[in-house]
Amino acid sequence: MAEITQDLRGLPKAAAYSTLESQLASVLDGIDDPIAGMATMSALLHHGFGHLWTGFYRVVAPGRLLRVGPYQGTLGCLDIEFGKGVCGTAAARGETVLVEDVEAFPGHITCDARSRSEIVVPVFGPGRQLIAVLDIDSDRVAAFDDEDRAGLERLVRWFARGRRGD
Ligand code: SME
Repeated sequence: MAEITQDLRGLPKAAAYSTLESQLASVLDGIDDPIAGMATMSALLHHGFGHLWTGFYRVVAPGRLLRVGPYQGTLGCLDIEFGKGVCGTAAARGETVLVEDVEAFPGHITCDARSRSEIVVPVFGPGRQLIAVLDIDSDRVAAFDDEDRAGLERLVRWFARGRRGD
């Protein structure tokens, strides 16, 4: 499988995300397990773009608590309350939060001191319930923009597809 973890950094972002979407569709063909989806998405995004930290915080108590899920990078903090940090803010609002400079975001939770910018995208399940957030950190200021927002929001729609029994 190593050969399909492509380095996407040479591509324009829109092309990189559409390449990634095809890779994901092929790797996850026939899979309907959200944890397998989170693990696969984390690995492909992290190594494809060379991010600092890439992973998921899962909703373990709706409206109250997120807990770390599959990720790539240095040790992530385990629990984040809704409304706290960038992840908890995105979860509470149910919308993407893009932070160009983490030092300018009050309440940012530092897991890796090298983090300079961050994007957190809500992940909805088949019934439109919030099941997780996708958190990506970069060691560069303003690494993320509206193309990342659009590309990532599209990728996480994988979790909203109907599955067996839905
Ligand atoms: N920075 C995040 C916390 C998670 S780590 O970056 C992995 C936040 O403020 O919610």
